[in-house]
Amino acid sequence: MLCTSDGKLYWEGSKGNRAKDKKTVRLVVPYERGYMKILVIAGARPNFVKIAPLLKCLRRRPDVFHPRFVHTGQHYDARMSQSFLDDLGIGAPDIALGVGSGSHAGQTARLLEAFERVMQEERPDRVLLVGDVNSTLACVLVCAKLPIPVDHVEAGLRSFDRRMPEEINRIVTDALSDLLFTHSPEAEAHLLREGIAPERIHFTGNVMIDCLVQCREHIDRSSVLERIGVTPAGYVLLTLHRPSNVDAPETLASLIDVVLQIGRRLPVVFSVHPRTVKMIEEFGLAARLSDSENLRNIEPQPYFDFLRLQQQARFVLTDSGGVQEETTYLGVPCLTLRENTERPVTVTQGTNMLVGTDADAILRESNRILDGSWKTGVTPALWDGHAAERIVDILTKYT
Ligand code: UD1
Ligand code: UDP
Repeated sequence: MLCTSDGKLYWEGSKGNRAKDKKTVRLVVPYERGYMKILVIAGARPNFVKIAPLLKCLRRRPDVFHPRFVHTGQHYDARMSQSFLDDLGIGAPDIALGVGSGSHAGQTARLLEAFERVMQEERPDRVLLVGDVNSTLACVLVCAKLPIPVDHVEAGLRSFDRRMPEEINRIVTDALSDLLFTHSPEAEAHLLREGIAPERIHFTGNVMIDCLVQCREHIDRSSVLERIGVTPAGYVLLTLHRPSNVDAPETLASLIDVVLQIGRRLPVVFSVHPRTVKMIEEFGLAARLSDSENLRNIEPQPYFDFLRLQQQARFVLTDSGGVQEETTYLGVPCLTLRENTERPVTVTQGTNMLVGTDADAILRESNRILDGSWKTGVTPALWDGHAAERIVDILTKYT
């Protein structure tokens, strides 16, 4: 059982009393503090981008919310973490778990233990989670078992491919969350099909696009192209980090060969994820990737610079989830090096196309773009820069 900071026990629906129907009884902390103490969790690069607009909105209403930022430490290199906290105005974490890397089980186990301790010390009223990484999965499990209400932003995404670790994380997180905030109509359909009550689902839009909209001036002012030595529309941008692409030596080697062929037509700028660096070294592929006129290997970029690189690219090759969305918003052609996507709206409405990892298909579609033929997309509904405001408005009803 849980008790509030004043030591009393409370049950949902009636301050200090047990609700009549025991089956529906759920222990909650009533907001006797006069505000909602809410923990906002992130620990990996894409999720700093998602929490930035949420924290901004929550901090704007100190009469209602006392947000606390918990950094799990899943990503820890300065270029994967600190640079985002600084540039996006997130600031230093209130609580840092420092879990680091590891196997799925090892990392998740450390997250579970560390986050449960934090919950016992902090006794928040609610927890806000984003995305589909191992940090998200571990935190939802802790919250659901205490139980403390927990809400999921970017709910309902499904690739229907359970070989992806993120797909397992998404299914579990959505099943255990209280409020589910979605960014596309198909996400709501998936949740309803999985038996989630409609009143728990809210179509609020895309917080990752909020961040982009809020940073537009900084992005436009970035001088990264000049620093790297490329010109607008004069390069292809590449990112790769999915285990299915980079953890198998043949797949990674074949993708590198295709990229080198594309590079003969237009230089490729490759922002290399730390996981990919590790695998390139392990598979002895570094020599093939050595920096040349046609291939520029760069370290993970700060947010403004990377968005500038996306905005000005002739096209983008990627297996990133967030980059599929950002290219759709920016109207830049995107070839996704995967067989499926949990973000189909970027294909049906946006500029994205799934090409998988077949070398001929990647070359054919790349050449098509370079020859000037590509679809123009539209911006999906509610990808308008105001998703975080909608989410926070809904949360105020729970105080
Ligand atoms: C994780 C997420 C993935 C997300 C990606 C975003 C899971 C299961 N995966 O994948 O969904 O798309 O983040 O980038 O949660 N490493 C470093 N420095 C760092 C972080 C990682 O060197 O700051 C290296 C370590 O060798 C580590 C490897 O990258 O073992 C993988 O890191 P991990 O967080 O486990 O998974 P990602 O591939 O980053
Ligand atoms: N990103 C960045 N610098 C880079 C590569 C990516 O700022 O060098 C940003 C990208 O614009 C997006 C987020 O990181 O906002 C996506 O993260 P990632 O691809 O690591 O994760 P995914 O979205 O696939 O989970």
